[in-house]
Amino acid sequence: MKEVFRRIIDRKRAYERLPLFEWMRDETQTARGRLAFYPCMAPFIMSFGDLNKFVLRETNPADSFQELVNAHTLEDDHHWPWYLEDLGKLGFDAEMCGTDWMKFLWGEETLQSRVLTARLTALISGTTGLERLVIIEAIEETGNVLFGAMLPLAIELEHQIGDELRYCGAFHFGLESGHAVGADHKALARKVLGEDERVRYIALVDEVYFAFEPWTHELLRYARAHPYPAHLYEKHGRPSHMIVAARAAF
Ligand SMILES: [Fe+2]
Ligand SMILES: [Fe+2]
Repeated sequence: MKEVFRRIIDRKRAYERLPLFEWMRDETQTARGRLAFYPCMAPFIMSFGDLNKFVLRETNPADSFQELVNAHTLEDDHHWPWYLEDLGKLGFDAEMCGTDWMKFLWGEETLQSRVLTARLTALISGTTGLERLVIIEAIEETGNVLFGAMLPLAIELEHQIGDELRYCGAFHFGLESGHAVGADHKALARKVLGEDERVRYIALVDEVYFAFEPWTHELLRYARAHPYPAHLYEKHGRPSHMIVAARAAF
């Protein structure tokens, strides 16, 4: 199993070098500008709770691995309300209203965000508890990259808006260790796998990263296409409807 974990770390190293994360680390841009992709994540972030509840979790776990999966899903199935909370605090929720949100959430700009949920659902379906743990470990490390890149931006924005950002900031990051909640990783790493299993688990890791990469490109495309008039934001501290109107004209 050690090789499977090594593959996850190798994939994670490559993942954190993707252009989205370079963009998020680019200190020549404002923190708000570097988070401009935030609304575009919505379909995946909002469906992630359901992925935990209805795809990863099994009502009657077949083995102790599935029990660990179930325990993990109980932690990870209720983070989306914090995403919505920050959407409002960062002023994104005022950018669209009514059916415009629906068109956006089911439109072309968020296509990869929806496809990601579909791909993960297909990947998880029919897998064993241990395979699901491998998939969770790989997903969690992608989350660790994203939330790690968001954290310094959130800290800066929290100072600007005078409020806590529970999804983007330390609160959520503290709950996302990059690993399956409650699993004993050392014991898992010691597990000896047969050649078939090793090949299959490594393929699962690769599939997770193949699924996530197009999503990051979509997020960056969105951020570039929807810049924010940073001078207005910084002047007023937090977005107002006036600023949102100015953004529409920007
Ligand atoms: Fe998580
Ligand atoms: Fe989370």
